[in-house]
Amino acid sequence: MDYLTIKLFHLVGLMLVFMGLGGMVFAASAGFGPDRKTLRRAAAFIHGIGLLFILASGIAMASQLGLFHGDPPGWIKAKIVIFLVLGGSISLAARWSRAIWYLLPAWILLGAAAAYLGLYK
Ligand code: HEM
Repeated sequence: MDYLTIKLFHLVGLMLVFMGLGGMVFAASAGFGPDRKTLRRAAAFIHGIGLLFILASGIAMASQLGLFHGDPPGWIKAKIVIFLVLGGSISLAARWSRAIWYLLPAWILLGAAAAYLGLYK
């Protein structure tokens, strides 16, 4: 697949992950309402598909750039750590929504850090 198309999947994956986290934490904070299960599942599903897109496209781009020949560079390892934290954050969003005003800025900073690493290396 063309490199730019893979990158497009990477960017769409980011949108889905943050949409899922935001949707989950706002819905949980508001008490989910009558559609409790549907909303929770939808947010978790969107977040999960986003994670899949990010990881598959990230690995595909890194291998096309030849970064997996030997030890991968630090910025790739740092992005994998950020990826894992944002991945685990969906349960914080669902269960710890009283911390919403800490979670939102933390996710924004993590996303900005991952974007910085991808752009500036
Ligand atoms: C959730 C965390 C992540 C965020 C927010 C993120 C964000 C970004 C952004 C904004 C770009 C720049 C796109 C551009 O050049 O226009 C990028 C590129 C890239 N990312 Fe990620 N990324 C994440 C996770 C990952 C993971 C887990 C991997 C690898 C396993 C990865 C590997 C890459 C690679 C290889 C590039 C391309 C660099 C280049 O073309 O020079 N990213 N990422």
